[in-house]
Amino acid sequence: MSTHRFPADFLWGAGTAAYQIEGAWDEDGKGESIWDRFSRTPGNIADGDTGDVACDHYHRHAEDVALMGELGLRAYRFSISWPRVLPDGRGPVNEAGLGFYSRLVDALLAEEIQPFVTLHHWDLPQALQEQGGWVQRETCQAFADFAALMVKRLGDRVRCWTTFNEPRVIMLNGHLQGSHPPGIRNVETADQVGHHLLLAHGLAAQAMRAAAAGLQVGIVLNQYGTYPAGESAAEAAAAEGAAAERAWQESEIFFLDPLVKARYPSAISDRIERIATSIQEGDLALISQPLDFLGLNFYSRHLVGPQGQLVLPATAEFTEMGWEVHPPALRQLLNRLKAEYPLPPIYITENGAAFQDAVAPDGRVHDERRLEYLRQHLIQLRLAMQDGVDVRGYFVWSLLDNFEWTLGYSKRFGIVRVDYPTQRRIIKDSGHWYSRVIDANAVEGD
Ligand code: FCB
Repeated sequence: MSTHRFPADFLWGAGTAAYQIEGAWDEDGKGESIWDRFSRTPGNIADGDTGDVACDHYHRHAEDVALMGELGLRAYRFSISWPRVLPDGRGPVNEAGLGFYSRLVDALLAEEIQPFVTLHHWDLPQALQEQGGWVQRETCQAFADFAALMVKRLGDRVRCWTTFNEPRVIMLNGHLQGSHPPGIRNVETADQVGHHLLLAHGLAAQAMRAAAAGLQVGIVLNQYGTYPAGESAAEAAAAEGAAAERAWQESEIFFLDPLVKARYPSAISDRIERIATSIQEGDLALISQPLDFLGLNFYSRHLVGPQGQLVLPATAEFTEMGWEVHPPALRQLLNRLKAEYPLPPIYITENGAAFQDAVAPDGRVHDERRLEYLRQHLIQLRLAMQDGVDVRGYFVWSLLDNFEWTLGYSKRFGIVRVDYPTQRRIIKDSGHWYSRVIDANAVEGD
């Protein structure tokens, strides 16, 4: 058994997102979000679940912050519900909604937990959707105004800000596959939305930096890494290699290239050509202004066959999401990104696993598989850092079991169990283990 020791200032955290935990969907003046509308429309979410109550965190935030203190978290990543603060997306501020976040930040600081804020984790105000949502360029400015407002109000206490969580999911799930709100299925619309999200990031970063000094501004991207499935006969192996590279260019780096290199990947030039009228002069310069850090969400790798289709390996461990467990892919991805991009410091802003848990007769939750998933990924992360990748912190997804989007409450990612009928929280074995990791600033294991 080896001890993998982390640097003294490594930031240990856990994350959540507003719609997944807060509940109180229409309380205290909150406006409707596209996720409220979508979940409350029958047929969209497993078991007819909604985020109306979720983990009731809006009412239980004091208890939840105490729990974070008990776990010894050094940082907490959460998102702000835009329509809770600005019910119409722009215009008058809902002070009651903004006050909730201000109290949350104060409670965190009182426990010496660093707040790490996401401005947009998918819950666009429905009022803006009705004006076209991310298809409209005007939405980018509305987002920048919202970002500046939040920085003006919380920037004296919050240092680390990310603009978007996984813009790729908004673009693809929301506007190409239509599985998330607003449920659009159109390639050109999706690409246009991708560009607008980048532009909104750039405008927001600029507005935030103008509103307060000393902020750290970043964005959170979900990356998998794409690899040949390696199951084809020799003659197909080259095709698989090429398909994996194409998948990387066409999907994985759609956001990273403009952000860091001020250009779209050359492999998608035909797609970009089709949305040329949406790209104005100066956009790419705005998008590629310096990032203080990059947040990466990592869960699994993608294996592709010769036609670029996703392939699931025959012999592998899978989580309840059907995602392959393959921890070395985290180290591999970080090294690839480091080799190909001049990157700012990195935070792993999400990593974790859904497994079915049960409360044992001893009253505890023995979630051994989740604990092992986290342990193995942390070991690979530490190895990547030893390879020279500059990683400053790690956030488990998630602090709490929560509303897993279209899958509702059927998937549990928490290191803390939530019993939804009673809202009782139980720290799982993985949570107790994570707490010891933070305390020791080290992970034991091979
Ligand atoms: C990510 C999301 C997060 C959570 C995890 C499992 O894509 O950012 O909200 O749903 O997946």
